[in-house]
Amino acid sequence: MARPAGGVTVRVPAKVNVQLAVGAPRPDGFHDLANVFLAVGLYDEITVTPSDTLRITVTGPDAHLVPRDGTNLAARAAELLAARYGVKDPGVHIHIAKDIPVAGGMAGGSADGAGALLACDALWGTGAGRTELLDICAELGSDVPFSLVGGAALGRGRGEILTPLDVRGVFHWVFAPADGGLSTPAVYRECDRLRAGTAVPEPEATPQLLAALRTGDPVSLAAAVSNDLQPAAVSLRPSLAATLEAGTAAGALAALVSGSGPTCAFLAEDAAAAERVAAALTASGTCRAARVAQGPAAGATLLPG
Ligand code: C5P
Repeated sequence: MARPAGGVTVRVPAKVNVQLAVGAPRPDGFHDLANVFLAVGLYDEITVTPSDTLRITVTGPDAHLVPRDGTNLAARAAELLAARYGVKDPGVHIHIAKDIPVAGGMAGGSADGAGALLACDALWGTGAGRTELLDICAELGSDVPFSLVGGAALGRGRGEILTPLDVRGVFHWVFAPADGGLSTPAVYRECDRLRAGTAVPEPEATPQLLAALRTGDPVSLAAAVSNDLQPAAVSLRPSLAATLEAGTAAGALAALVSGSGPTCAFLAEDAAAAERVAAALTASGTCRAARVAQGPAAGATLLPG
């Protein structure tokens, strides 16, 4: 479907967590993190046009899985911005052209929240500055500020306190979405259950990982990636073990669950290797698809009208 005419369109990338170190549960139910985000080139496009009411339409292979009500982060973003800036006619049609896997651990919902926020800010001329937008993003969800910023960043706190990271060159990835999503709170709960009775260290980004990003060396990055939520995601979805194994057997330098999963992420040596890993994963029958994408990618970006 073509983009609705006369609107503002924003393109927003997916993310993979090259390190996700998870601390003990906090009194507020969240977990302190050392969350090393890398934005990758799979994108949702969010187009907003004036409308009498707030309404959402979605296209794309996973469109039927996306909520069209006020629970959608794109709707919440529009409502929050309108309330903060006293927008007189906050009716808006939000159209999401969805390419990021839904409930897949790649921040697809967060991308739509950040995209709708930037698009509505432009449509309404609210003139919110970067700091205000990031503040609203943090209110929407832990991963939403990174969707706005993109590139690569270390997220502290619950993931919303960002420090940009230097990355040289590009890293070549393959992403294998699974059938059906995983609930992020359920994965964190399972992580707590699996670690019950053990001492959980303060989460810290590993210096080797940050150095690998700086030098752009995929072999060093592969040796340093880690995800504390992976055992929990595999415990809830045991079939992920076969997907990870299939990517490793196909020559991926590293295989890990993306965020809370169930999408699996594979780091490849170069573009040709990524294509080979993707073809082998598709043939393996252990996942529903395999997509290549590069990172870092730019954050939420207004597209020319
Ligand atoms: O911030 P967001 O709404 O995306 O978080 C969804 C859920 O994921 C939270 O309700 C919480 O259960 C879990 N979470 C967490 N610690 C974080 C981020 C998310 O426990 N740092």
